[in-house]
Amino acid sequence: MGKNSKISRRSFIKSVSAGSAGLLILPSGTLFGQTAPSNKLNVALIGTWGRAEAHYEGLKNENVVALCDVDEDHLAFAAKVFPNAKCYADWRQCLEQKDIDAVVCCTPDSTHAFIGVWAMNRGYHLYLEKPCGLSVEEVRLVRETYLKNKGKLAVQHGTQRHAKPNFNRIRELIHDGAIGELQSVCAWGDRQLRKPGYPAAAGDPPASLNYDLWIGPSPYHPYNPEYFSGQSGMNCLQWNMYWDFGAGQVGDMGSHTMDIAWNAIDAQLPVSASATGEAYNPEVTPVELTMTFNLPANDWRPAIEANWYQGGAMPASPRECVDLSKIDHGAMFKGSKGHLICSFDDRLILPSDDNADMTYYKPRSQEELIEPMGNFQQEWIDACKGNLKTTCDLEYGGNKMEMMLLGLVAYRVGKELEYDGAAGRVTNSDEANELLKRSYRPGWALNG
Ligand SMILES: NC(=O)c1ccc[n+]([C@@H]2O[C@H](COP(=O)([O-])OP(=O)(O)OC[C@H]3O[C@@H](n4cnc5c(N)ncnc54)[C@H](O)[C@@H]3O)[C@@H](O)[C@H]2O)c1
Repeated sequence: MGKNSKISRRSFIKSVSAGSAGLLILPSGTLFGQTAPSNKLNVALIGTWGRAEAHYEGLKNENVVALCDVDEDHLAFAAKVFPNAKCYADWRQCLEQKDIDAVVCCTPDSTHAFIGVWAMNRGYHLYLEKPCGLSVEEVRLVRETYLKNKGKLAVQHGTQRHAKPNFNRIRELIHDGAIGELQSVCAWGDRQLRKPGYPAAAGDPPASLNYDLWIGPSPYHPYNPEYFSGQSGMNCLQWNMYWDFGAGQVGDMGSHTMDIAWNAIDAQLPVSASATGEAYNPEVTPVELTMTFNLPANDWRPAIEANWYQGGAMPASPRECVDLSKIDHGAMFKGSKGHLICSFDDRLILPSDDNADMTYYKPRSQEELIEPMGNFQQEWIDACKGNLKTTCDLEYGGNKMEMMLLGLVAYRVGKELEYDGAAGRVTNSDEANELLKRSYRPGWALNG
């Protein structure tokens, strides 16, 4: 029996047993329940240190059967926690292990789309840290591969801040008309990590590190210890600003902060993108950047503009007394009757003068509030074993990242791009179409 049929049989048993406190004694005497031995997922954890450590607690309740890292010391660190797992340096070999049900991918960004697509192609459930790709082509393939497997696989895009209650409250306020009809939205982040260019060659990699696999599909750059000098969970800030390894703050905090807006606006792909920022550096992504997108109307709101600001660029405040720069990562919604300004945890409504009494707005009752999603990682684990439904799947997360990465293409081309989202083509710039994809070292296949 294949792994997916095994899981769906479990789902079937679970639904049959609903109402019996989630426990069912089968004739064989097997005990089923969320963490019963027979209902554990066989997980491969790829990228085992750093961000991966945020997944350890949840994974301790499952069977971690494979660990993969290009750094032997990081592998050994995780092997202490998951001693029964087989260890690998190369994720391509790891994914061939036959007993895997699910993959948690916490590697650097340049491998996300590769590992994600290869994992889904092999029928594995997938938790993919953000961003789900580094080019428009990559995120489109990730989304397409997920959509092909929808109904068989549970996937989650690693934007765990989405579980904060503020996300639901903001969505309710926007949908219930607390600022009238939505007109535009923006999000921003103030992180500034300036680098002149790729660090120069400096010494040899330590014996514990397989540097060639670390470079992976990306164009080669010589070893420099700077790439590895960050603290656990923060080391991404040592490499994510370089074009061949990351998308700068667009892929980093942009994945999280634009999510506040994305969760509330029910958008698909933009029809246009433009961007301005500091002078283009062929090695390093821009620090200061403003991106503008036009998003088509949907069944509850008109067409709107969405903006992303970073690295010192900021939207204008609607009131002098409100200093938006005090919010390091925030979003602002403009409606016909006021503004909603928010961070990940707080929100503020500024009604326009004539509407200040807000009598136009009827808050929803407690029973009508959007249900909390609970623990973000656990939602995915439960979905793998159950109904396969997650809040941040790779259609939701893929569309958002496609928009953001298209903005970086507009920045590089320096003109407003008209975009055909169905075809994934820019209709007014051949140069931009070339930049929708990135180049790889020979021997690496994105869709393997
Ligand atoms: N969701 C969040 O809030 C959050 C927070 C931090 C980082 N992240 C994401 O997590 C990812 C990892 O970030 P990090 O700071 O832990 O980075 P990191 O540089 O510390 O790398 C993480 C681990 O992956 C290993 N690794 C590197 N290349 C590999 C490869 N090709 N195959 C297998 N293992 C490999 C490293 O040795 C390390 O153990 C990034 O994509 C980042 O965007 C997400």
